Parts: sequence; C-alpha cells; structure tokens
Amino acid sequence: MKFFIDTANLDQIREAQELGVLDGVTTNPSLMAKEGITGKENIHKRYTDICEIVDGDVSAEVIATDLDGIIKEGEELAKLHDQIIVKVPMIKEGVKAIKYFSDKGIKTNCTLVFSAGQALLAAKAGATYVSPFIGRLDDISTDGLNLIAEIRLIYDNYGFETEILAASVRHTMHVLECAKIGADVMTGPLSSIEGLLKHPLTDIGLEKFLADYKKGNK
Ligand code: E4P
Repeated sequence: MKFFIDTANLDQIREAQELGVLDGVTTNPSLMAKEGITGKENIHKRYTDICEIVDGDVSAEVIATDLDGIIKEGEELAKLHDQIIVKVPMIKEGVKAIKYFSDKGIKTNCTLVFSAGQALLAAKAGATYVSPFIGRLDDISTDGLNLIAEIRLIYDNYGFETEILAASVRHTMHVLECAKIGADVMTGPLSSIEGLLKHPLTDIGLEKFLADYKKGNK
C-alpha cells in the first residue's frame, strides 16, 4: 500500500519524507489556499518544490471545468515535472479529458469520486488513480470504507489497472481498514501516518528496557 500525504505544506511533506515511508503527495485548491499560495506562478512553483522533496507522484489539480481548459491546464501542469499527476474532477468534461490524457500518456488522478459508478467510469477512461473521498462520505453518515470495497471488487472483476487512492482519510483506522480492503494508496494528513506509530505498551516497554539497562550499566 502506498502512503501519500494530503497537504501543500512543505514542512509536513519533509517530515513525512524523512520518516522514509512516503510514496507521494496529493494537493487540491483548498490545501493551496490554506498555505496562502495564490496565482499561477506561485502555485506552479509550489508543485515543483514538492516534487523536489518527495520521491513519488504529486497530484496537481486543474481549475478549469471545460474540456479545452482542462486539457490546456493539464498539459501545462504535466510539463512542470515528470512526477506530476494531473488531478481532474469527476465531471463529464473531466472524463473526456482523462481519456485524452490517457491516450497521450499523461497520468491522471480522478478526484471527487463518491460512488462506485463514478469509479467505474474513471477506470474506463483510463485514469491512473481514482480518488474516492471516504472521510467526506463518513461526514454525511455514509460508509466511506464500503465504497473502497465496492470499487476493489469491480476493478478486480475486470482487471482494471487504475489504482484506488483512498482520499479524505482522516485517521489511522481509515488507513488500517483501507489496507485490509486492499486500497492501493491512501492519502491523509501527517497525523494519520504518525498515529500508526503509537502504542502505550511500546512506550511502557521501552521505558522498562532503558531503566533496566541503566540499573546494570551504572
Ligand atoms: C484528495 O486528494 C483530497 O485532496 C483530500 O483527500 C480531501 O480531503 P478532505 O475531505 O479532508 O478535505
């Protein structure tokens, strides 16, 4: 299972990269805005900065919603760095654009996916990744993890190569459950990765080991 971090914050990306388990980064316009990054030039610069830190795929989202606009923007983004994955929303024009990019060998991440039907369409169009937003489904009392399981079943039935990128991951249990179901990738905040480290018995055990060592090595 690949671990992506869902942020445009360079310090957090560096921290995750230093842990040695990071496979990529996802961003979106809200995450860019959260970092105060505005204007095409600054946004593009942030994408290339991220690519320099992480050794893996970096999703960069288009803003256009018409086919020509998505294609123009996506091609520009793809040219920024060979690690860039063009993130395209699950709308009609987006599906057409994903097919266009796929035919041209440009990798895509189909975002804002909330149903198995949408995921099937994204795979048919040739998306590299599909991003079902599990946290946002949970937020409206709908089982996000069940969507991951449905997509896994459908993709396995037909051998679709599109990778299931569980997005809108909020905590460690999402990560673990996605791993059990067989999501190919998860993207979440740094806390969802670092939370996997924690166990009180590890802390208690280490404290005891160190104390016993000290006793015998005065
Ligand atoms: C995915 O690529 C999105 O950027 C992201 O996971 C959305 O997460 P949120 O629902 O926590 O905003």
